[in-house]
Amino acid sequence: MIKEYKALYVTETPGGFIREVTTLNTNLLPANEVLIEVYYSALNYKDALSATGNKGVTKKYPFTPGIDAAGVVAQSSSPAFKEGDKVLVTGYDLGMNTPGGFGQYISVPAGWVVPLPSGLSLRESMILGTAGFTAGLALHRLETNGLDPAKGKVLVTGATGGVGSLSLMILKKAGYTTVAVTRKKEKEEYLLSIGADEAVLSSDYTDESAKPMIKGEWAGVIDTVGGKILETSLKSLSMWGSVAACGLTQSSGFSSTVFPFIIRGNNLLGVNSAETPMNLRREIWDRLSGDLKPDKLESIETVCSLEQLSGFIDQILKGEITGRVIPDLKAE
Ligand SMILES: NC(=O)c1ccc[n+]([C@@H]2O[C@H](COP(=O)([O-])OP(=O)(O)OC[C@H]3O[C@@H](n4cnc5c(N)ncnc54)[C@H](OP(=O)(O)O)[C@@H]3O)[C@@H](O)[C@H]2O)c1
Repeated sequence: MIKEYKALYVTETPGGFIREVTTLNTNLLPANEVLIEVYYSALNYKDALSATGNKGVTKKYPFTPGIDAAGVVAQSSSPAFKEGDKVLVTGYDLGMNTPGGFGQYISVPAGWVVPLPSGLSLRESMILGTAGFTAGLALHRLETNGLDPAKGKVLVTGATGGVGSLSLMILKKAGYTTVAVTRKKEKEEYLLSIGADEAVLSSDYTDESAKPMIKGEWAGVIDTVGGKILETSLKSLSMWGSVAACGLTQSSGFSSTVFPFIIRGNNLLGVNSAETPMNLRREIWDRLSGDLKPDKLESIETVCSLEQLSGFIDQILKGEITGRVIPDLKAE
């Protein structure tokens, strides 16, 4: 089956990287087991890096970014999937060096494909997407290291972003008391509306002292920003508390001492959504479509067409997006 389709295509030119909506052909996609017609994708920070020529994410251009895709199987040589199945793909190599969800078709190995969980529509699965999956994985990492709602408050940093917003929403569903850390004072009402019990400004939260530890306040932290905010979180965990380190929007670097680890028994936990093994991946998607499914998911979405997506890519790089941007691949 050969089909023409539209994609947001990124090309390297002598003057820099340009992106435009163009028509491509499915016979140029990699020869993989499952061809999927994409209905919805989602915009993640990593997509913006790929779309602007970050070779740590995407090595070769021209390229179609998009680490998230949800749609319907158009063709499959794998017995695990048949034409018409509703499915989603997040992570692995999708949108990094395998053409991604900013195109109307993707071709992927069957081992990357998750059947759409029964509690989610295709669109809801992308409002969650990598951001929601990462939030679910971070909570899983915290809970398997002893966190439960009775242990105390959970802090979420980069709170107005995709991972931050969805972390607050699923923590609420799981019965936690949460504190949101944001740079945006004007977004306090938004944060309280999606489930934060309290919002704190990043500048007020950040500890600039040289103290190795400060008052222990957090049973758990989901950190999406790194840098000084991660440093502050490590200094202010309560006894046996853990930080799940997800992101680096402030900085990839941080410094610490051994004191939180040897005096308060704290944990610094890694979160890698892209490489999560399929059994754990399905377990987390089942929870995200069941007991952890946020109420009013649609309240954090901004739906756009492929043509409108480029503007949102510029905004996410500046940390200006609130919630989730959902490209509708069927929109005219
Ligand atoms: N480990 C994984 O598997 C995984 C998966 C997904 C994403 N990530 C990473 O997690 C991070 C967040 O991703 P996302 O998709 O949620 O991005 P996003 O929607 O852009 O959210 C990031 C948030 O971080 C805050 N922020 C941005 N720039 C900042 C700066 N210079 N200093 C301090 N805070 C800043 C902003 O929130 P406020 O304005 O509210 O503070 C922003 O909304 C990224 O680094 C991404 O690469 C990792």
